Formats: sequence, structure tokens, C-alpha cells
Amino acid sequence: MCLAEVTEIGCRNTMAEQPFGGAGMPSLNPQTTPAWQVLERLAGHYVREFDLRQAFATDPMRFQQHSVRIPHMLLDLSKNLWDQPVVEQLLALAMQMGLTERRSQLINGEIVNHTERQAAVHAALRLAFTSGSTPVSAAMAQNCADLGAMLATAETIRADATVHDVVHIGIGGSSLGPELALQALRPYWRSQQRLHVVSNLDGHDLAETLAQCHPAHTLFIAASKSWSTFETLQNLRSATDWLQQNGINPADRVVAITAKPSAAQTSGLKNVLPMPADLGGRYSLWSAVGLPVAVAIGAAGFRELLAGAAAMDEHFTLAPLAHNAPVLLGLLDVWYSSFMRMPSRCVAPYHHRLRRLPAYLQQLDMESNGKSVRQNGAGVGYATAMALWGEAGTNGQHAYFQWLHQGTQRIPVEFVAASQANHALLGHQNPLQANAIAQAQALMLGAKAGPGQLLGHQDFPGNRPSTFLLLDGPLSPSALGALVALYEHRTFVSGVVWGINSFDQWGVELGKVLAKEILQRMTTGYWDGLDASTAGLLNAACTTAEALP
Ligand code: F6P
Repeated sequence: MCLAEVTEIGCRNTMAEQPFGGAGMPSLNPQTTPAWQVLERLAGHYVREFDLRQAFATDPMRFQQHSVRIPHMLLDLSKNLWDQPVVEQLLALAMQMGLTERRSQLINGEIVNHTERQAAVHAALRLAFTSGSTPVSAAMAQNCADLGAMLATAETIRADATVHDVVHIGIGGSSLGPELALQALRPYWRSQQRLHVVSNLDGHDLAETLAQCHPAHTLFIAASKSWSTFETLQNLRSATDWLQQNGINPADRVVAITAKPSAAQTSGLKNVLPMPADLGGRYSLWSAVGLPVAVAIGAAGFRELLAGAAAMDEHFTLAPLAHNAPVLLGLLDVWYSSFMRMPSRCVAPYHHRLRRLPAYLQQLDMESNGKSVRQNGAGVGYATAMALWGEAGTNGQHAYFQWLHQGTQRIPVEFVAASQANHALLGHQNPLQANAIAQAQALMLGAKAGPGQLLGHQDFPGNRPSTFLLLDGPLSPSALGALVALYEHRTFVSGVVWGINSFDQWGVELGKVLAKEILQRMTTGYWDGLDASTAGLLNAACTTAEALP
């Protein structure tokens, strides 16, 4: 990117004129910013006329201009439906929405979650822990000490020859990060112990895991920031029943991780590791919830994971916005969603060990930015987070890639690959890379049916956008840390530009309340007052369910 910091300086004045709501809550409507108006005018051209093939033909420096080298990876943004004028206006929009101020608040551990009056300390904690310098506050010093205590606990567990299986119980942010990291870093496991993650309320999940374990040799980690999540508490109840039925005291075989230590202690658990209340649930991997990962890869490996993430935090904090990967990615999401009206985006990890990345990102991005109100509660008049989906390559090529190449919707695809493999099998890595690069190329170039081919059926329209993230080496702990932090900050950036709170998740609450009510009805058999569909479903479910009245 060759945009000068002039963009940042030039826009700072505009920012100073914008009103902010009470108690530091940003209440700006992005649609009222000058940059938004310009981008709306530009969008029509990029929807209808902009052609990637032409853009590359007329600009031999397009790849250099639209790609950045960042810690542990290369980010190629050149095959996207944008150009310098769009990028400049998006950067101006970011400034007009106060991105640099909001970024400082995030990195300094100040309040950024205004509905819950909380900071989101994941980056501040990583930076404080890895820098080794004196933390800025007593609370941060305590957070660092707690993280250190978790790593010490991990080493104790690793050294315990009586523990053969470690079962991590949690859901959402309390399981997706550990699950992603455990799977991604399998070649870096230094533990003889087997690690499992159980999250689903569906008992098949836990039952299948318990079937592989011996009660005398199993340690459970129960992670719940709130210590009130039904799924986790039910799985924990079933796990402790299993231990008790086999004559084992659960208090000896369960480590609880929570921001509500007294609640866990009240339920009879004595091994309790705290996590910070102001570390958002989606970022739990960076707290004691990372325990199963630290057991698997060791405390030293976990420190590398943290260091990789901290390197990305530094990049996000220090790199000029025009060369700042999380900023550019976040702005790209805003461009595609709000201006080019794309309904979804696809993430295709060309790495078998990243096959849970789309699921992880679904929570990170869709729970954070799947919002229709701005910080001040006013409705948004524009599209926010796109739906995110995907599947590992090359498997996806034999499933949904047909839709990407020839379907009626055009959506951005993100390829994530590593330059080196962690296996020694010949004949896989180069073809894998070739396929990823070829798919991005095919989406862009398209093709016309040739002589003897089926007109229409064998036409590829092309001009379909993609982003490519290529790790410099293998998927190591530090590379994974950098990748996860990149995605976290990207989500933050688009949330700031949309003027929404990326750190709450009120939208998950209603379903929880209604599920309780319905469960209650299942035990009483009382359907009165329900809508006909809900009553009909309950009727059908209860003819076969275990909870028949
Ligand atoms: O799905 C909603 C949610 O609140 C997530 O934000 C969170 O990560 C998950 O539930 C688990 O919450 P807890 O860690 O409190 O059990």
C-alpha cells in the first residue's frame, strides 16, 4: 500500500469535530461522515464495472501495492474489488469514526464495551505478559500473575503420570479457541496425555469422549467465564456423576476456570483458576481457558503462541493505517458488506489443521458484529457483519466451489495457507498450494467456453474477489497466535467503523430464556398459551422424549 499517513493526519481534524456521546461512548453514525457519502458514490462503479483483470493489466504494481508483509505472513489483497480511491476513502472513514482513538483504548485496556461498562483486555494482557515490563495497573499485574499460574498448573498436569486423558468442557469462547489451537498445533504437542474438547449439550459429545477415558486417569477442565452456561454446567454435572459412580472425588479431578471463582467453589470445586472479568468470552484462549493448549504444547509453546499474538498486536498498534493488515481487512469487510451489499464471505483454509477456523471465526465475527444497533442503541441504516462460512481446501473444491465460480451471487473468498507443512509426506504440499493459488486465479480470471465446449455451462464469469493469507513457514504456535490476533483486530476495526459494540452479545439471551421455559413445560406437559407451531413440536417431541410427563 502506498497511501501516505497524510490520510490519517488529514482526517484527524474532521474527527475532532465529531460529537461523542456521554461517558466516552462513541455515538457517531458512519453514514453522516463525508467518507461514507463518497464511498456510496463509488460503490456503483465497483459493483457494475470494475474488472480485476483489467485492473491487473493496467497496473503492473497492483500486487505490490495491495499486499503487505506482516508478522508471520503475507497478506495479498490485490484480487479484491477495490482500488486506491476506495482504499483512501475507507481509511478516511476509519479516521472519521475515531479508529485510532478506539484502538488506543483497546490496547490500553480502557473501556470499549459500553453496554457492559468493561474493557476488553485480551491484547493489553498479551502485551503486558510478553513484554516482561511492569504492568500499568495492579489489575493487569494480577492478570499476568494468573496467566503465569495457569502455565504452572499446565506443567503440573503434564507431569502427572496418573492423568492419561484431559477433557476440556466449555462452549463458545470457552471452547472454540482451545479447540482450534489444539487441532492446529497437533504436531507441537509435547504431551503423552490425550486432550479432548466437549462443548455440545447433546450428550453424544460427552458420552463418546467418556467412552475413550478411564475414570481413574481422567482430568476435567471446566471453563465458563460466567459459570452459568447451561451446556457447560450440564456436561460438568454428567462428568462429575461419572467420576463419583466410579468412586472418585470430583474435587480432585476437576479444574474450574471462571471469572466467578466463588460460584465454582460453591459447587464444591477446590481447584479454581480465575480469568479476568474484562476479558471478553470470545478471547478466552488468552486467559486460563488456554489451559488445555498449554498442557498439550507446554508452557514454553503457549508463550510462543502469546508472542505471535503480541507481535500482531504491535503491528496493529504501530503500523500506519495504510499498511496495517487488521485495518485493511476490517475495512474490506465494511466495503463488501455495507457498500457492495455482499451477504456473506467464505473462509477456505488450505490447511487440514485449520479446518475449525471457519467455526472459530463465526463466533469471533458474527457474535461480535452481527448487530443492528449502534453503540447508543440507535438502529443502523446499513449492513454490518456478513455471514461467514467455509470448509477446508481442497475438500471445499468438491462441494461449494461450484457455487463460488458459477453461482448467481458474488462473494469474497479468503484463502489461508502455510508455506510449509508439518508432515513429511511427499506429493501433497505443492499440489495443495497450487490448488489454493489456482482457485484464487480461476475466481478472478474466469474463462469462456472454447470450441467444442458447452456454451454457458462451461463459461466462468470471473472477476470474483479473493484475499490470500500465506504463512511464512509452518503453522507454528507463534504463527497461529499472529493469525488469531489478526482476525480479532480485524473484527474490532469493522465494528468501530460500523459504530457498533463488538464486545457484547445480547442476541444470544432470548433463546436461552425460552429454552428454560420450554424445558419447564416439557416436565409439566403444559402447552397452554403457546403458538401452534411450538406446541405442535413439543407434542411431537414429548411422545418420544426422555422427559415425558
Ligand atoms: O454464546 C454466548 C456466550 O455468552 C459466548 O459469548 C461465550 O463465549 C459462551 O456463551 C460461553 O460463555 P461462558 O464462558 O460464560 O460459559
